[in-house]
Amino acid sequence: MEKIKILGISGSLRKDSLNTKLLKCAGKVLSENAEFDIVDISGVPIYNGDVEALGASQAVKDLEEKIQNADAVLIVTPEYNYSIPGVLKNTIDWLSRSKVLNHKIIAIMGASPGMLGTVRAQLHLREMLLFMRAKIFSEKEFYFSRADARIDESGELKDENDKKFLKDFMDGFVKFIEENK
Ligand code: FNR
Repeated sequence: MEKIKILGISGSLRKDSLNTKLLKCAGKVLSENAEFDIVDISGVPIYNGDVEALGASQAVKDLEEKIQNADAVLIVTPEYNYSIPGVLKNTIDWLSRSKVLNHKIIAIMGASPGMLGTVRAQLHLREMLLFMRAKIFSEKEFYFSRADARIDESGELKDENDKKFLKDFMDGFVKFIEENK
């Protein structure tokens, strides 16, 4: 049986990003029937209709191709000023032009050192993806608060309960992908 392909996107470009670490942890707990890849969005240019009219950049084309080839996308986002970071919004703006996210199966997670664990950012992201008629995994939610204290220096989750919660989330997402792809 062919493996399910999940593409991971982090909304943080920072080398020591808590969100990128969480994204990598999510890839590690995946069951064997799923494949996982992470795409870097740091090369996506600032959206400008004049730039678009000259043809999308290679970075955007590569990202679109990876999304098209994946069964589902997992977005892990920080919260910036109660919403998602500009780099992620900018990427979504580009992707909305080619409609590559339309009807895509998507799960959302987020990590923050604060107490609310990106709940406000995730709600904004969910609204944007609804506009694209994305099939959003909603049975489980993942708000990773106090993330700086719960991820160790090597990028692993410290607490066994967090590992189990993440595994349950990813298992639920894989089941959702199987049912909806
Ligand atoms: C933040 N941070 C933040 N945290 C939060 O819980 N709610 C918020 O609204 C904001 N706003 C915000 C704005 C900006 C411009 C920055 C740089 C940061 C803190 C943020 O959660 C923290 O820096 C995370 O560590 C960022 O995620 P990464 O880079 O670790 O993945």
